[in-house]
Amino acid sequence: MNATQTPPGDGTVRPAAQRPHAVQPVAAAAAGPGGPPATAFEGRGRRIHLQEVGPRDGLQAEEHFVDTEDKIALVDALSTAGLSKIEVSSFVSATAIPQLRDAEAVLQRIERRPGTVYSALVPNPRGAQRAIESRVDELNLVMSASASHNLANLRMTQAQSLAALAQTAALARAAGVAVNVSLSCSFGCPMEGEVPPEAVLAWCERCLGETGASGLTLCDTTGMAYPTQVVRLTRAFLERFAGIELTLHFHNTRGMGLANVLAGIEAGADRFDASVGGLGGCPYAPGATGNVCTEEIAHALQWMGYDTGVDLGLLVQASRRLPMLVGHDVPSQLLKAGDRLALHPLPADFEQIRARAMARG
Ligand code: COA
Ligand code: ZN
Repeated sequence: MNATQTPPGDGTVRPAAQRPHAVQPVAAAAAGPGGPPATAFEGRGRRIHLQEVGPRDGLQAEEHFVDTEDKIALVDALSTAGLSKIEVSSFVSATAIPQLRDAEAVLQRIERRPGTVYSALVPNPRGAQRAIESRVDELNLVMSASASHNLANLRMTQAQSLAALAQTAALARAAGVAVNVSLSCSFGCPMEGEVPPEAVLAWCERCLGETGASGLTLCDTTGMAYPTQVVRLTRAFLERFAGIELTLHFHNTRGMGLANVLAGIEAGADRFDASVGGLGGCPYAPGATGNVCTEEIAHALQWMGYDTGVDLGLLVQASRRLPMLVGHDVPSQLLKAGDRLALHPLPADFEQIRARAMARG
């Protein structure tokens, strides 16, 4: 991306002050008419929406309760970094998820940035009422494509969940609040194994039919998705449910997160959930680990020429505070390594090394 990245062959290396540091990626020019069709490997300035789920999916999995003030500061920092949607908390049973028992306080005191959608996860009508009173912009309703996971996570059969979803969505409609449905285990269940794509699509149809939701999220709850599967299911969804806003939600449990995001883009998706620092997990899914990491995805996509609308520097600043908040290291590799052009100083004896190499001829 920059000629000065490659040192000249005579061994001369520019002093650190003259070398480029953390250069902001430049979006490639959009393809002109008649240009080759875009693939996932060419951003061409295309917009990809990154939706932050760390304050909910991330913090729900933490052993210790994160202070309400810290949660508010985190959400505000993520808003300022330009995330288009933020799942702020969940309105669930405090016995089930004590880490998020302060959902009302967080929603009431965050700064609402114009253009940012503040959403919350709700499992039932009671959750919806609480969320609506807390002025959420969107309710994220949840059920699972797997019968076992639905029972373990929500303590309901899928039929009961579907009925609860319909009642919950009716409350949202009456209050003029948008509805999204998240379908857990869309790419496999940790207890049942494969969930056939036809079954997933049939649940999508039922959920959308019962709720009138404007968006649906296919969730890879425990990182079982792989790229070719993502391409197939995403294409099938987009063909069958034109006009429904699709989000893909991946966990990086088996290191396939970024590959799955690119596969989703290749198949036509443009919205992805991600979690700052790579926080995350599901208390009811054995072996679940963090979501794909927001700053890693933003960094990769921006260098590939996509427009994520995210200020990577501000996002990394927010992520840098996480270990203090949660009391342990977070999975983000970008946090450890920095931007790919965050350069290291030359070794102190560099001039001697060069002189010796040159003397050898
Ligand atoms: N908000 C607050 N409290 C709620 C609630 C809500 N949305 N829904 C139920 N409760 C309370 C009930 O009042 C009851 O409280 P009590 O024990 O003091 O009487 C308790 O939770 C159990 O309620 P019940 O209706 O019997 O539900 P349940 O025990 O069958 O649990 C859920 C069902 C869905 C409410 C519960 O399992 C839950 O909140 N799960 C969290 C799921 C989750 O967030 N998973 C991770 C993300 S996918
Ligand atoms: Zn998740």
